[in-house]
Amino acid sequence: MFRMPKIVVLPDHVASQIAAGEVIERPASVVKELVENAIDAGATQVEVAIAADCRDIRVADNGCGMEPDDAVLAFQRHATSKLKSADELYSLHTLGFRGEALPTIASVSKVTVLTRTAQAANGTRLDSADGKVTARETGCAQGTVIEATDLFYNVPARLSFLKKATTEFGHIHEIVQLLAIAHPGVMFQLLNHGEVVLRTAGSGKLAQVMQEVGILGGKETLLDVTHADVRYGLAVYGYVARPPHCRGDRRGLVTIVNNRPVKCAVTYKALEYAFSDLIPKGRHPLGVITITIDPKEVDVNIHPTKKEVKYRNSSDVYLSVQNALKQALQPQPGAISIATAVNSAAGEQTARTMPAAMPAYATTGSAGAMVREGADSPVPHTDVNPRSTHQRIQQISLRDQLAYVPAVPAGAPLSSPIVDPARSASKPRLPATLPPGWRLTGYLHNTYFLVQTTEGLMIVEQHIAHERVIYERLLAQQKTPGRLSENAQRLVISAPLNLTAEQRACLAENLDALKQLGFDFDFQEGLISCSQIPLELATKDYASSVQANLENLLTAGATDFQLEATKSVACQAAIKDGMPLSEAEIIELLSAWNNTPRKDTCPHGRPISLFFSHDKLFKMFHPD
Ligand SMILES: Nc1ncnc2c1ncn2[C@@H]1O[C@H](COP(=O)(O)OP(=O)(O)OP(=O)(O)O)[C@@H](O)[C@H]1O
Ligand SMILES: [Mg+2]
Repeated sequence: MFRMPKIVVLPDHVASQIAAGEVIERPASVVKELVENAIDAGATQVEVAIAADCRDIRVADNGCGMEPDDAVLAFQRHATSKLKSADELYSLHTLGFRGEALPTIASVSKVTVLTRTAQAANGTRLDSADGKVTARETGCAQGTVIEATDLFYNVPARLSFLKKATTEFGHIHEIVQLLAIAHPGVMFQLLNHGEVVLRTAGSGKLAQVMQEVGILGGKETLLDVTHADVRYGLAVYGYVARPPHCRGDRRGLVTIVNNRPVKCAVTYKALEYAFSDLIPKGRHPLGVITITIDPKEVDVNIHPTKKEVKYRNSSDVYLSVQNALKQALQPQPGAISIATAVNSAAGEQTARTMPAAMPAYATTGSAGAMVREGADSPVPHTDVNPRSTHQRIQQISLRDQLAYVPAVPAGAPLSSPIVDPARSASKPRLPATLPPGWRLTGYLHNTYFLVQTTEGLMIVEQHIAHERVIYERLLAQQKTPGRLSENAQRLVISAPLNLTAEQRACLAENLDALKQLGFDFDFQEGLISCSQIPLELATKDYASSVQANLENLLTAGATDFQLEATKSVACQAAIKDGMPLSEAEIIELLSAWNNTPRKDTCPHGRPISLFFSHDKLFKMFHPD
């Protein structure tokens, strides 16, 4: 008959080895634990040296060091100087608290510790292998050096799971990057087989560390994210790279919560939402979001390696991050070039990067310049793209569209679906002027505006600049009560829609969102037709554009239907590339675009303007 063997309590060393699987997964986990201990010890300098294909790890710090008896105790499980009762878990200001990292590391490697406090004349050396610790007095610098060698020598299964040394070092590099970002005031150095791979100055400036550790390329402009939310007792601080800078993965995105780098779904969600109409789909923003929150409001003890946290009220955190990002993404004054951020004495000073003031718009007569004087005269262009009479009738002038103030409410049938030009003509308005310092110097292929600014040359693409202008206006309209009805146009003859069953279902589901935008529909005997359209589309061949617009939207399965629909209307309504504009229209568009919030990219994430500084142009012509 089967008999259960007698129960025995495992020796500490064996229990640690079993538990090690959770805390010490790989060499990078050892680095993380030892560096966190150094930071908790108040170190201002931390050096991590890696050798023997990531199986020998040495972390040296200039922190407070340990007394001899503390150093011996540190090797015992649940021995910690950082926590005395479970309650203190909720007022933690240290990275460690479990008292298990050192014994765990010692259970899967050979550990040597050299440590000395500032008060002690001599230091202590401890050697630990196979569960035995020996200690003796020694001379050493103040602080602590911990060496873990021959990692996993006694756990062959774990050893066989280790990846190539380059992969393991990649993990180590990443963890040191993250810890350096979380502690900009600490000077970090990472060496691989004697070669320096990462070094930070410990300047205390977040923007500088972001560049030093290499999560930024150096060309990005950073937007200042700062927001203190008294209601929720938390502060959000950091930088995000101004669009169009983004990445294909999330490696450029770091969240720090109470000095701890963590994977934070809440921040990711807020960031992705805030950038959803600024960078292309599937790409991710770059930046560091630092959240300081009352320790009572966050549980850091939900993951063996503490890389996840749980907020008591995650929607409050989400809203605060969302607010901080919203403010950061408004145009100016938060934009700083990395050089400015790094060089500014305070570290977090801001400086505008847009062109400084210059004389008002002036035309040029120089060779190669394609813009002539004269308000509404068509701009001479190289390849004229003549429009048919039909197209001309369908097109409202861009000037009218940009300055459009709706006057006919929905419900008032018009004799034609085309916007009455008299409405805009009846409103005399001042001609738009370019921002100070800008000069329109050319118009290429009826598509690109060449603009001279005080700082260099800017090239703007007409379609996407216009798309952003319309998009922001539509968003503003949706938020203004009562504006909706003014911005829709009833159709004299409803446009029948040819939709699949699936598209119809999607239409029914998103009817409110579409109405918000100005659409309306007639449902009669199984036939759906469009009876009202957003005014922005009234200048188009609406029947086919509405069909195309809705077909795309209803098939795409967007997570935020209304936002996608707004993008789609903006794209349809915007002037196309290749359509010639008059000089006055170009100026009007440039000035409207310049006054638009979030003007760097179109709602789909493409950059609207390219900029070549004098310096860059000079370097391009003088490459040596
Ligand atoms: N570099 C160091 N400088 C000074 N004291 C240290 C250092 N490393 C460890 N210690 C001491 O050893 C103790 C045990 O460290 P260990 O990492 O095992 O546990 P912990 O940091 O308290 O908690 P956790 O297991 O969550 O990391 C610490 O509480 C600290 O007192
Ligand atoms: Mg620790």
